[in-house]
Amino acid sequence: MSARALLVTGLNSQPGWFLNAALAEHPAAVTAIGRRRPAELPANIAWRGVDLETPPRDLPAARVLLHMAPIWLLPPLLDALADAPPAALIAVSSSSARTKARTADSHERRLAERLAHGEQAAQGRAEHHGITCRILRPTLIYGHPSRGIIPRVRGIGRRLRVFPVPMAATGLRQPLHAADLAAALWQLVSAPEDTGASLQEIGGGERLTFGAMIRRILAGAVPPIRPLPVPAPLLRGVLRVAPGDVGPGMLDRLAQDQVADDRVLWQRLGLTPRPFQP
Ligand SMILES: NC(=O)c1ccc[n+]([C@@H]2O[C@H](COP(=O)([O-])OP(=O)(O)OC[C@H]3O[C@@H](n4cnc5c(N)ncnc54)[C@H](OP(=O)(O)O)[C@@H]3O)[C@@H](O)[C@H]2O)c1
Repeated sequence: MSARALLVTGLNSQPGWFLNAALAEHPAAVTAIGRRRPAELPANIAWRGVDLETPPRDLPAARVLLHMAPIWLLPPLLDALADAPPAALIAVSSSSARTKARTADSHERRLAERLAHGEQAAQGRAEHHGITCRILRPTLIYGHPSRGIIPRVRGIGRRLRVFPVPMAATGLRQPLHAADLAAALWQLVSAPEDTGASLQEIGGGERLTFGAMIRRILAGAVPPIRPLPVPAPLLRGVLRVAPGDVGPGMLDRLAQDQVADDRVLWQRLGLTPRPFQP
């Protein structure tokens, strides 16, 4: 096994999409695993179809494991790699482990529990095997051309010709561009020991209110989409009658700040995340 052999999960994720160029230049063996072969897979990457719910035990040994799939899929993967564990583990969790831990919305609470349990179980296994472990908890991720909040909001806005923006949406958000997250992960892959605590939150280069974030997404559409200010109680009533994948917890958190304490991390990484430019 080469000193820089890499095993990667979640290459179809938003940060994974932005990592292709760096992976294509990686000077050692790279194996990517997942359920769906990525459409644009660099020629140097070996692909293996794997459902991480039930990972096989014959995966190729690697010095570094970069895990971008949901964090709760990491503990079984580490068990599958127990005979030849990696020296370093870089993984993506979510700041929802903290921000959704105490909402009244049971669906959100279950997600937070799943994330926190995945982190703890992965850290326990890393400690047991002497693996250097770095887990990042990103805020909202955006930046993929066809995935995430921006195409979703604009898609709905184009159909309705307006987009409902809840009033009093004063809680701060700190959206993180997937390319900046990819750069941070790549830096960690290169030097996992130099980058501080085992579990760290990470956000983008600008903090703005939830309402301002949605308005900026709408303003950047071509042609721009008109925001429609709606009182939160009215929106709550609409969601009750026509429930989608946005639950009541999202409305409860509109006035709460969801930002990351990440200044030291970005300094250590030697990177500057971009402001929110959807
Ligand atoms: N989206 C956000 O705003 C946000 C915010 C904070 C944290 N996060 C975290 O950041 C990471 C990336 O999020 P994302 O929204 O960009 O990506 P995503 O849509 O959640 O992508 C998930 C990735 O995980 C893989 N995956 C999922 N289940 C799998 C399974 N059973 N077996 C094998 N692979 C599996 C998928 O591979 P296949 O395509 O092969 O199924 C895909 O590559 C995730 O860990 C997510 O929890 C996301």
